[in-house]
Amino acid sequence: MKKWYAVIGDPIAHSLSPFMHESWFDEHGIEAAYLPIHVEPSQLKKSLEAMKTLGISGFNITLPHKQSIVPLLGKLEESASQMNAVNTVNFDGTHYVGSNTDGDGFVRSLFVHAIDKTSKVLLIGAGGAARGIAFALKRAGFTNVTITNRTYRRAEELAAETNASAMTLIESEQQLAEFAIVIQTTSVGLATGEALPISLDRVKSGTLVADIIYNPLETPFLKKAREKNCIISNGVGMFVYQGAIAFEKWTGIQPNTEKMIQMITEKLGGTYVNN
Ligand code: ATR
Repeated sequence: MKKWYAVIGDPIAHSLSPFMHESWFDEHGIEAAYLPIHVEPSQLKKSLEAMKTLGISGFNITLPHKQSIVPLLGKLEESASQMNAVNTVNFDGTHYVGSNTDGDGFVRSLFVHAIDKTSKVLLIGAGGAARGIAFALKRAGFTNVTITNRTYRRAEELAAETNASAMTLIESEQQLAEFAIVIQTTSVGLATGEALPISLDRVKSGTLVADIIYNPLETPFLKKAREKNCIISNGVGMFVYQGAIAFEKWTGIQPNTEKMIQMITEKLGGTYVNN
């Protein structure tokens, strides 16, 4: 029987996941469909039951369901329980298992660049996205991570859980030249013209500056970093690698990520630059 997969969210019409996974299924000659399904919050439980009844093999979860689905799943991998959020579900033959591939996806996207796990990393933000990345950096063996956040207490709490250090935004601005990798995870920058989460005045040229946002492809933060001769990395890599890890869980196949980053960048109106 033809397998089927889905992404559920509200809204869902603009999700690029169906394009990405169907392209990979085609590329590998796998007979499977991947559907975008609009699920309103009040319908989440019922929708989940319906998808299970109809034999779904796996699915992705996007906003606003990543946290509310947690109590509805029987089994969680560590990546999901640490974040208390799920973006991927696979069927292990008995259970629907929740995992979270966002943080690991981001960390994999960093390795496109020549980086070193002992590099000094500054993580800006302490919300859900930062949490996934902080745990993924720890899992990947990064030993020198500092978390900074507008609400300092949240930076301290996340740092304590992930063997990282904490700094205020002002301290991080003053000590910015010490960091080899700077990761921006806050929602600042979704709207052009918005202020930056921290000033990049003191960033060293050659620093790898990454933003998890991919629409716009170049946030004001990345634009400023480019002007300061940094190496910049937008959120397309994270998006593609979180999908690639989900695809591996479902099929056991590592899909072509570089070609997908190029296709998604072009779909978003950008020009692909291979760093
Ligand atoms: P997400 O799940 O996308 O990470 P979130 O959990 O709401 O969203 O977290 C948003 C992050 O952006 C937080 O780190 C937040 O800082 P606070 O903890 O101080 O709220 C940060 N953030 C949002 N708006 C900001 C702003 N204008 N300046 C600096 N940081 C901001």
